[in-house]
Amino acid sequence: ALSLRPLYRAEQVRELDRRTIAAGCEGFALMQRAAAAAWQDLKARWPHVQSLTVLCGGGNNGGDGHVLAALAAAEGVAVQRILLKPVEELTGDARRAADMATAAGVSAMPWRQDVSLEGELVVDALLGTGLGGEVRGPIREAIEAVNASGLPVLAIDIPSGLQADTGAMLGVAIRATLTVTFIGDKLGLYTGAAPAHVGELAFRALEVDAEAEGDLVPAARLLEAGLIAAWLPPRPRDAHKGDAGHSLVLGGAPGFGGAALLAAEACARLGAGKVSLATAPEHVTASLVRRPEVMVHGVRGAGDLGSLPEHADVLVVGPGLGQGSWGQGMLQAALDASKPLVVDADGLNLLASRFAGRHRDDWILTPHPGEAARLLGLSVGEVEADRPAAALALQRRYGGVVVLKGAGSLVAGPEGLAVCPHGNPGMASGGMGDALSGILGALLAQGLPIEPAAWLGVLVHAMAADMAAGQGGERGLLAGDLASCARILVNPTTG
Ligand code: APR
Repeated sequence: ALSLRPLYRAEQVRELDRRTIAAGCEGFALMQRAAAAAWQDLKARWPHVQSLTVLCGGGNNGGDGHVLAALAAAEGVAVQRILLKPVEELTGDARRAADMATAAGVSAMPWRQDVSLEGELVVDALLGTGLGGEVRGPIREAIEAVNASGLPVLAIDIPSGLQADTGAMLGVAIRATLTVTFIGDKLGLYTGAAPAHVGELAFRALEVDAEAEGDLVPAARLLEAGLIAAWLPPRPRDAHKGDAGHSLVLGGAPGFGGAALLAAEACARLGAGKVSLATAPEHVTASLVRRPEVMVHGVRGAGDLGSLPEHADVLVVGPGLGQGSWGQGMLQAALDASKPLVVDADGLNLLASRFAGRHRDDWILTPHPGEAARLLGLSVGEVEADRPAAALALQRRYGGVVVLKGAGSLVAGPEGLAVCPHGNPGMASGGMGDALSGILGALLAQGLPIEPAAWLGVLVHAMAADMAAGQGGERGLLAGDLASCARILVNPTTG
């Protein structure tokens, strides 16, 4: 497959640090490289900057901040350092960096709650990958003051308060405008609380080639647009609809018609050759009016399905399913059909309750954190505290491929974890998940193996939402707006 960008855990980046130092590059030299890279990125983003405040913590992240302060001062910028730990208590490279900045004449003062953040922007060098445990006390106060200031913020390596492995916020975290991260790109910069805190992200390798270190298995891979053309080449000129597969959507219990229709519509727009929808009889007319391309079947219960599941290549079960007898019957029929499955929404809630204990290799499960919590027997807070671990645990327990939705959606499968850097808060609206399940059903119908189908489906769904938000804004974005954008994305010659 395509080589997707590797993302690492903090411990792996520390190991890269150690190896680089062992190979003859002094630690302090590496710190200087990091600070110089951040300073270059700062100048590129704010070319007219004349004054700034650098907040320095007590570790090496703070050390990077001291060096950056010295570099900025040397170019005539008015720089103020605010220290969360007195210089006398610093050790090693951080101490050396602080002394260097002081020798260069850069002012420094201890943090106090009434200190004013002077200058046009703030550099956050409080906490880096060494963060351990909840942020409390003065560092918490400083982070809150920076966020309240309204000033633009450049975060060094990672916004302080964000956990580098999980993207969880430990109590409070800096909301950065730009984050410059070093040596190895970190998974925690992409998922959970990260999208709300990282801002723009720049990665600087500092001449360390992480991928050359063959024994470091990345914690995850980044899903990027290049995947689409790699897996969805233009159709052959002589294609016919049988080549593009047949998806059957099972959903829309009495009173829940819209979700299944949204899934069926997205499925058709993403190029399934044929789409059938088995839904409660009361939804048939409305569904046909909205989408005559979908073959709509009214079913009073699973007994009415007849040979529909047999004739499909892929089943999508869950949207609008309900957890009552109608939904239970449909889920049972879907499980019995021995076809690749996409299971969403109430399909997942049933897998967590009445249908517990199932494990399959040929399904994609698409829980949001609430469904994930039920499937794992955890609280939502526990899932959000470590999204990568939750996604991996779901995959181990249920098999197949698991998509853990939410900001920075994660895909866990036999190839490990992947994370989606796209998407926007407009997606927090009803029906978005239904659209995703339909997209996945279409990709499976077109013959993609389940793991690439999940990567691509999550990516296209999020990119389509970004495209639609670009046209009309995030607020009020509708699930039904996605399909036409997604269509453009999966036709690279027109996209
Ligand atoms: N609250 C307060 N202080 C904390 C907390 C917390 N929750 N967690 C850690 N610290 C303190 C530690 O006691 C230590 O003084 O923060 C410091 C460690 O923070 P880092 O600077 O992130 O860790 P370190 O390993 O020194 O440096 C890693 O250096 O290579 C650079 O910027 C790069 O992120 C990287 C950083």
